[in-house]
Amino acid sequence: MIDHSRITCDTLRSKLMSAEEAAKLIKPGTNIGASGFTGSGYPKAVPKALADIMREVNENGGSFQVSLWTGASTGPELDGALAEVNGVDYRMPFQSDAHMRNRINAADARYFDNHLSHAAPVARSGAMGPCHTAVIEVTAIRPDGKLVPSSSVGNNQTWLDLAEQVIIEVNSWQSADLEGMHDIYSIAKPPFTQPIPVLKPDDRIGEKYLTVDPAKVVAVVETEMPDRNAPFSTPDDVAMKIAGNLIDFLSHEVKKGRLPENLLPLQSGVGNIANAVLVGLGKSPFENMTSYTEVIQDGMIDLMKCGKLKMASATAFSLSPDMACELNNNMKDYQGRLILRPQEVSNNPEVIRRLGCIAMNSLIEADIYGNVNSTHVMGSKIMNGIGGSGDFARSASYSIFMTPSIAKGGKISAIVPKCCHVDHGSQDVMVVVTEQGLADLRGLSPKQRAESIIKNCAHPDYRGMLQDYFKRACEESLGKHTPTLLDEALSWHSRFIQTGTMLA
Ligand code: COA
Repeated sequence: MIDHSRITCDTLRSKLMSAEEAAKLIKPGTNIGASGFTGSGYPKAVPKALADIMREVNENGGSFQVSLWTGASTGPELDGALAEVNGVDYRMPFQSDAHMRNRINAADARYFDNHLSHAAPVARSGAMGPCHTAVIEVTAIRPDGKLVPSSSVGNNQTWLDLAEQVIIEVNSWQSADLEGMHDIYSIAKPPFTQPIPVLKPDDRIGEKYLTVDPAKVVAVVETEMPDRNAPFSTPDDVAMKIAGNLIDFLSHEVKKGRLPENLLPLQSGVGNIANAVLVGLGKSPFENMTSYTEVIQDGMIDLMKCGKLKMASATAFSLSPDMACELNNNMKDYQGRLILRPQEVSNNPEVIRRLGCIAMNSLIEADIYGNVNSTHVMGSKIMNGIGGSGDFARSASYSIFMTPSIAKGGKISAIVPKCCHVDHGSQDVMVVVTEQGLADLRGLSPKQRAESIIKNCAHPDYRGMLQDYFKRACEESLGKHTPTLLDEALSWHSRFIQTGTMLA
């Protein structure tokens, strides 16, 4: 049931209207800055109403499309609903919705896949044009007009600052106890940027609330709609072996005195494998861990529940439906242990480098030299996007990438002679882990890296093929520093496209 007491500011209460009326205020061809980050805190009612208008226009020979800027991926009521009716002409900076992905891969929508910490600065610079309308989900509106953010912060303050008009959704499904969990801090444009004073993951440096010029608010809509995320798959044998290999490595680093016993602040990427590693950490010997990351997944809440994780700082929750409900019911218990910040701060390279984060991200493929492709299947089809993996990988003290050694039932090797697309150059990749083992690439030359990755990470079905390629490359390549057979390096991908398998 909608909780009408969530709006306690008379000025903004006077702008209450239905989602259908609010959607009519959005015009074709405009740029929308929406809240939302990995299925959390995105507007739900107004986008659905907008999609209905778009469908009507687009099915009757007209064209109604918008540009959609967000924090990261959203949910079916935003990305899904708008993409389904071909309502998005341009998307940035991240998505993971099946409809949106299909539109992008069919060239119906242009996609600016970008580092998440860069999204707000590039928008503020004006390079993407004006932000016409901000559509922002909040938990409540206070008497002074300040906004209590919901389950993600993302780029919300930036969109509120830049937008010509603002539509606010007040979602009473979100726990009222989210109030106080946020830390809103704005970064000035260069050359006026100041150091960000986060010296520890739990430092608070900003305000609890988002602010908006009430004169720009054209609509306030009340909703009671859940964040929609898919459940994580139960970690299988492969995922748990990856987690085990990674935890053995971290234990070794502690033993060597290179890591403190409670590790360094953890960053955990998106997806099933990243979540499995968190599950594995629950069974590890590490205690009193902290996290400075982008999203808080189920595994992180479980680590808190068993007392191993002291606190987590992120920009959003990314929870399964069950965990979202559980957290919603018990949000008060987590006050003081969870901090949600703007993504420009959660993913800020300055802070990540200072804290010495341990970055753990998943990949689509890695090549024998340790270059990593996180985004493109067979070089041309986008999966999701780089997200925050680049923000963390470049600046972390440990930049770890993990993957099952094979995909699609063994028809694809995740370790290839050459990546068909590169998101993280080899200099940003310190460790590669699969269920087969772990390659510690720190300090190694390209040839040493290749030997280690093939031996430790490749699946046995592909190891011989990789050894054969590498041996011939060492003999025949023009240069001997990073031996490469140019005509053959991408032949595994071509073979998959032609025959349905990379196996020769
Ligand atoms: N070729 C083709 N498809 C591949 C592949 C490869 N080499 N490797 C994985 N895939 C497919 C899987 O088959 C699966 O497909 P499905 O959804 O049709 O089953 C899909 O990619 C997801 O793979 P999965 O093994 O379940 O891993 P995941 O859920 O951990 O996701 C990424 C892996 C790379 C797609 C995901 O982590 C991602 O988008 N990363 C980039 C953004 C990022 O790192 N963000 C973190 C920032 S903090």
